[in-house]
Amino acid sequence: MKKGIQIIYKEVAPTYELINHVLTFGLDMVWRKRAARNAARIGKKRILDVCSGTGEMAQNLARRLGHPSEIYAADGSSHMIRVAQRKKHMRRVQFVLADAGRLPFPDSSFDLLTISFSSRNLNPDSQSMLLYLKEFYRVLKPSGHFLNLETSQPPLFIIRKLYHSYIRWVVKPIGQKISGSRAGYNYLSHTMPRFYDAPEFSSLCRKAGFSSVYHQLLFLGAAAIHTARK
Ligand SMILES: C[S@@+](CC[C@H](N)C(=O)[O-])C[C@H]1O[C@@H](n2cnc3c(N)ncnc32)[C@H](O)[C@@H]1O
Repeated sequence: MKKGIQIIYKEVAPTYELINHVLTFGLDMVWRKRAARNAARIGKKRILDVCSGTGEMAQNLARRLGHPSEIYAADGSSHMIRVAQRKKHMRRVQFVLADAGRLPFPDSSFDLLTISFSSRNLNPDSQSMLLYLKEFYRVLKPSGHFLNLETSQPPLFIIRKLYHSYIRWVVKPIGQKISGSRAGYNYLSHTMPRFYDAPEFSSLCRKAGFSSVYHQLLFLGAAAIHTARK
């Protein structure tokens, strides 16, 4: 993980969740729960949550999936991991400090790999995104599942414009104000309008080797859950 991104997550870690909940009116929690419910339906045993951050997705998974599921949470920021470790239900989660592009696991290690609100971070361009997706593919067992929850691009032009204006005029300044990190919310709000729409991300998943790629739009397409199979 690049040094600049590590500094950003050091700065935003203490207020990261609060800002998300305020700026999405709590919808980010609803979406993570929904993604975790989908994951629980898949009913997998060995799970890796990549770019786990403050661990909200891993916590949802730990709540939903009983024993004997084994849950790993990997992130490149020790500051974000520290916040996650203080949470309830995390005793069963094994934390790993790791770059998403070089996961410290052998091929075919996991039944399910999840990632939430982080693919944007791994996407300076489609070639880089593809390399990360291939790394996720590598650590999944044959027939293993991939689940990606991420902001997306509303298909309706007018909604998309309103959404981009909201990011520019509300998410960026309020994020900067609450976190005290100018660079952090410059960066986070910059990545949102530039990420793929749902069909484009599906197409990248297929390029990385995944099959049975499906997506579900959330809140008029402001976010999307993608599921796919190795
Ligand atoms: C926007 S946060 C999302 C956290 C969490 N998944 C959620 O749902 O809120 C992005 C996380 O990705 C991590 N991250 C960014 N680039 C990474 C990389 N190359 N390798 C590992 N972690 C990375 C950051 O440290 C941060 O914790």
